[in-house]
Amino acid sequence: MQALRVDCLSDDLSGMTLADLPPPARVPGEVLVQVRAASLNFPDLLMTRGEYQFKPEVPFTSGLEFAGEVLEADPDSGFAPGERVMGGNKTGAFAETASVPAAKLSPMPRGMDFPAAAAMGAAYSTAYTGLVELGGLREGQWVLVHGASGGVGLAACDLARALGAKVIATTGSADKIGRIAALASPDAVLLAEGRFREAVADLTDGRLADIVFDPVGGDVFDESTRCVAFGGKLMVVGFTSGRIAEISTNIPLIKGFSLVGLRAGEYARRFPERGRQIQSAITALAEAGRITPAIDRILPLSRWHEGFEAMANRELVGKVVFVPGS
Ligand SMILES: NC(=O)c1ccc[n+]([C@@H]2O[C@H](COP(=O)([O-])OP(=O)(O)OC[C@H]3O[C@@H](n4cnc5c(N)ncnc54)[C@H](OP(=O)(O)O)[C@@H]3O)[C@@H](O)[C@H]2O)c1
Repeated sequence: MQALRVDCLSDDLSGMTLADLPPPARVPGEVLVQVRAASLNFPDLLMTRGEYQFKPEVPFTSGLEFAGEVLEADPDSGFAPGERVMGGNKTGAFAETASVPAAKLSPMPRGMDFPAAAAMGAAYSTAYTGLVELGGLREGQWVLVHGASGGVGLAACDLARALGAKVIATTGSADKIGRIAALASPDAVLLAEGRFREAVADLTDGRLADIVFDPVGGDVFDESTRCVAFGGKLMVVGFTSGRIAEISTNIPLIKGFSLVGLRAGEYARRFPERGRQIQSAITALAEAGRITPAIDRILPLSRWHEGFEAMANRELVGKVVFVPGS
């Protein structure tokens, strides 16, 4: 089968090859899946460099998440051959078949196609765990979403809007403003450069943001400490800027906000019942047509380099989806 391998770690994707491998052997407890679509996440890129918190031993097959059809499962697994599923197990998704523990899979939302299901998983569970589960998002609140052109950022904008919040999206790339506005319909899109607190204050009539959702970090985080409403939450989601910011503890005290660390995958692992409820809530929203994952491009897996490079060069608005076997 076709599989995208990371043979050695590199900063420029040079350690990766599209290989022809035997399909994975399913062990009891796992489900063997024919992968129909798999989406690229920032951690996939970080793992090729050895810069992600999870560091698989090389060589490994890349890919956090996929959507596909069950080929083989234990009779008591809850899954049957032919069923359409989505999920992943940190690696192994960029291949024609994948074998993952049953607990890492969920049924695809009814009416959704494979690329959309592959694009929805991690991005929306991250957004939901952050905004709803840890953020306690309520209708009418203001949410400031950074990195809004990214998979996670666009999901946060879409979800917040679907739940009745008011959304200010930000991007570091001026040329993406129009595309973010068209895809996510936020209340406003700002350029996250320099001082943007005054723009946030103007848009919210001086209230500032009830939740700041920050996958970018660095300077964007620094300025965000000035954008949180009293009683609000500043959520640390990631560091795509490449700099992990620091904060003096007197700032959240004086301004009366909470700093919240988000680890969506770990949250679902530690609280599996909550994880299942989060997944069900996302599925219900998707089946009701209230959320729709944004896809920038769908590529055959043979064009993996183009997808990874577009993410590394910050060209995307929405997800890259690979179709294995093509
Ligand atoms: N905490 C969690 O549980 C969790 C779960 C999943 C992912 N994450 C993290 O969330 C972040 C976003 O992941 P993603 O899959 O949505 O990534 P993505 O699709 O590549 O989006 C990242 C966005 O960050 C912005 N950005 C700002 N500075 C950048 C830079 N120097 N290089 C690249 N992008 C930069 C870009 O938006 P603009 O060009 O519009 O500025 C880009 O679209 C990652 O750090 C990832 O590790 C966290």
